[in-house]
Amino acid sequence: MADALPMKPEYEYQTVEETADPEKDIHSTAHHNGEDRTKLKHPPMAEALPMQPEYEIQEIPETAHQEKYIQCSADRNGEDYSKPKRPPRSERKRQRHAEMIQRQKEMRKRKKLERKERIREQGQDAGSEPSLSREEMRKRCEEGMKTGQIICIDCSLEQHMSDKEKGKLAMQVGRLYGSNRRVDNPAHIYLTGVNKGGQLYSELVKKNSGFENYLIEVEEKSHIELFPLERVVYLSPDSNNLLEDVDPGKIYVIGGLVDESVKKHITLSQAEGAAVTTARLPIVENMVRTEVDSPSQVLAVNQVFDILINYSHTKDWKNALAVGVPRRKGFIVENGS
Ligand SMILES: C[S@@+](CC[C@H](N)C(=O)[O-])C[C@H]1O[C@@H](n2cnc3c(N)ncnc32)[C@H](O)[C@@H]1O
Repeated sequence: MADALPMKPEYEYQTVEETADPEKDIHSTAHHNGEDRTKLKHPPMAEALPMQPEYEIQEIPETAHQEKYIQCSADRNGEDYSKPKRPPRSERKRQRHAEMIQRQKEMRKRKKLERKERIREQGQDAGSEPSLSREEMRKRCEEGMKTGQIICIDCSLEQHMSDKEKGKLAMQVGRLYGSNRRVDNPAHIYLTGVNKGGQLYSELVKKNSGFENYLIEVEEKSHIELFPLERVVYLSPDSNNLLEDVDPGKIYVIGGLVDESVKKHITLSQAEGAAVTTARLPIVENMVRTEVDSPSQVLAVNQVFDILINYSHTKDWKNALAVGVPRRKGFIVENGS
């Protein structure tokens, strides 16, 4: 065999004992250029075994480390020494569960940071003073209820949501109320089409402490019953019309919907059915796509609200959209926000 090798390898020869089958006892370890091309008829471990095991000789991959790849299946008393033992099923399940919890934790952390960042930016961009006292915030909101931009949240769409989604909508209303308190030009918020005996209303009360004292209008009537039709603009991501500006004389309606599995065209078809003007936010016109696999222009109610109040203060879509559209939606303003 040495003749076949291009360079002279170092061989360790071990004594070959005379046995009934001399082939079985040959151990020759060849160290060739650092590679160990052992051809084992059986490894030394065999000597320790009480019974003669059966060995399978397998080809040693050239690239691999020998120890990793020699598979010596010694079938001794039914035990397989060749493979590392897989952890038991319960252990694997526990591990998968721990990994999932970890992923969820990271996601919550990321969302929290995004929210903080948005609030911080909004504080700067929309001219709010984060250190305002409660009393000052209240005064501003009262002023907003007289002169502020009217923004309605259409709460008549309960039938399109699960209980969980209603709970989420209630929290989004709490968030948008919080944003409104912090800006120096608070909007005049209406919750329209509210069913006070319904699940959504009880979620609003349950999820938002002090909800009954919020400085907002809670109306059972719809936006069409409350305002002249020609002043109403229903915002819908599915609209073909572009929202070019926010006009203080108009009433902007946001659909009170949380659609975890997006149900398209609900607000669009309702608004069109009632001959109400519709419009979508100018996202693609002011933002660029990122690498996110499935970008979406469908935003949450509080995000749309934040964009509207920010735009009415700054008159700058890029700024307003950078604040309201989270990165995970797959759009950013070109300067990287
Ligand atoms: C979660 S979305 C619900 C989308 C729903 N599929 C629909 O039919 O409106 C909640 C509301 O936010 C507003 N909205 C969300 N993204 C928007 C966008 N890109 N342009 C305009 N309005 C948007 C709409 O009023 C919408 O009803």
